[in-house]
Amino acid sequence: MTQTQKILVTGATGTVGRQVVAELLARGHAVRALTRDAARADFPAGVEVVQGDLTEPATLIPALDGVSGLHLITFGGAYFAPLETGPRILELARAAGVRRVTVLHGGGPSLLEDAVRADDGVDWTVLMPVEFMGNALEWADGIVTSGEVREPFVSRLSAMVHEGDIGAVAAVALTEEGHGGQEYVITGPELLTVTDKVAAMAAARGREIALVELTEEQAVAQWRAAGHPEDVIGFLLEAYGNTPEVGRTVVDTVEKVTGRPARTFGQWAAEHTDAFVAQPREATS
Ligand SMILES: NC(=O)c1ccc[n+]([C@@H]2O[C@H](COP(=O)([O-])OP(=O)(O)OC[C@H]3O[C@@H](n4cnc5c(N)ncnc54)[C@H](OP(=O)(O)O)[C@@H]3O)[C@@H](O)[C@H]2O)c1
Repeated sequence: MTQTQKILVTGATGTVGRQVVAELLARGHAVRALTRDAARADFPAGVEVVQGDLTEPATLIPALDGVSGLHLITFGGAYFAPLETGPRILELARAAGVRRVTVLHGGGPSLLEDAVRADDGVDWTVLMPVEFMGNALEWADGIVTSGEVREPFVSRLSAMVHEGDIGAVAAVALTEEGHGGQEYVITGPELLTVTDKVAAMAAARGREIALVELTEEQAVAQWRAAGHPEDVIGFLLEAYGNTPEVGRTVVDTVEKVTGRPARTFGQWAAEHTDAFVAQPREATS
């Protein structure tokens, strides 16, 4: 049984951060959640909400007071703009007595991640998840409005990971011994194509979903129409059209670190059926 610890979670309103919060709470720890807008944030009962901005490290000083662990993201704005303030954040964390740090790897160079890795005063763990299962929520609108998913590269393989499992690995690394200096690639338990994912979602919601394969040109047009900047479109084309081996190789990190098997995409789809069916309109008076 591990002792109750207090952990500061940054990115706490995000896809992964919410799961880090939930997994820490489930293990009986105290959670302080950072957001830039405390009035808008919606956290489970018992979470202490603090306002702060990673691009302004001084705003983190009260948030860091009395915490033993810190979960960090590497970005600080729209389209995951890399944080320039990493070294200062790490200095403040060390001064506050933080002993364990996890950092959610962002896929590219990061001053923050470099500062974490160079810090021999804390036990740091770099979390390197592959594609999130939650990315499938981007298909929700198309499924609800026209019963179809429009995607390129439908045969590409992905070892996609449940966000809850990233949160679980983070929660263990932040509160238990033995994870310092580790880089954890985190995947789900199976390799799936887009076709497999769409079939799993159709099974979960109990209605067929048509999969329309787009050409690269059609996909680029769709992403542009959705407002994605050109560098993001380039990233998506490369990640989907030429998925690196790490993204299509299953590893057993979740089970090794948490003692539980990694969750399947079928489980994820069953948990999210509400997003894939039309919701009844609320009555207006
Ligand atoms: N999607 C994938 O398949 C995938 C796979 C591997 C790795 N990744 C990496 O995962 C990361 C994205 O994680 P996510 O999806 O959990 O993010 P997300 O859902 O987009 O959430 C963004 C979070 O960042 C916080 N934030 C942004 N700027 C901030 C600032 N200046 N100060 C404080 N907080 C700030 C937001 O907090 P507030 O708005 O509440 O302030 C929010 O909680 C990226 O680094 C990405 O490269 C993604």
